Amino acid sequence: MAENSLTRIGLSLRFARSEDKKTLFRWRNIEEIVALSSSRRHVTWDEHSAWFDQALMGDRCIILIVEAKGEPIGLVRFDSRGNDGSIISIYLIPGETGKGRGTALIQAACNRAITAWPHLQWVEAKIRSDNERSIVVFRRAGFLPLSAEEQKISDDHARLQWQVPNVSLKNSGNSE
Ligand SMILES: CC(C)(COP(=O)(O)OP(=O)(O)OC[C@H]1O[C@@H](n2cnc3c(N)ncnc32)[C@H](O)[C@@H]1OP(=O)(O)O)[C@@H](O)C(=O)NCCC(=O)NCCS
Repeated sequence: MAENSLTRIGLSLRFARSEDKKTLFRWRNIEEIVALSSSRRHVTWDEHSAWFDQALMGDRCIILIVEAKGEPIGLVRFDSRGNDGSIISIYLIPGETGKGRGTALIQAACNRAITAWPHLQWVEAKIRSDNERSIVVFRRAGFLPLSAEEQKISDDHARLQWQVPNVSLKNSGNSE
């Protein structure tokens, strides 16, 4: 269902491949994307290369490339946490944001993640509190803010979580 709505808005998702390494390096060092990263600093090619190779080889990270008309325009990443959780990160490159595609993209990406990781129970987004657009799209995609007590983070971020529907739903038409 979510995948169909993605097609309707002209987007598709595919798993990252080794040849995406240079593109992702270029994107990672775009000023707007640096500003949204947790470290808020540029990365070197060596750092990127080591991270990317490990991410692609291992089973703790899912990198999805967002494409419009066959051209890459963004990334959705899931980093595994514990046995049943994951942290989602998402960005569209400058020029591709603000076109009303965020919610469908998040939903379709989450469906990909639960297909790849059937044990997944929750997905969490950690979003800077001043990133209002992002908070809006995650809430529309079904992510709910953790309680103030659960937030337990010192910096200026909000934590929103999506609880994965039960197993019977996972295997129904809700996935691809
Ligand atoms: C987050 C992101 C993927 C959302 O996708 P998008 O296609 O740009 O989002 P949309 O165009 O669907 O915008 C969603 C809504 O936010 C609203 N919005 C935009 N700026 C806003 C603001 N400052 N305050 C409140 N709402 C805002 C839009 O009006 C839109 O609502 P509408 O559909 O009722 O008009 C994209 O903006 C992005 O890549 N941003 C940079 C990276 C980032 O912030 N990542 C999140 C960190 S995990």
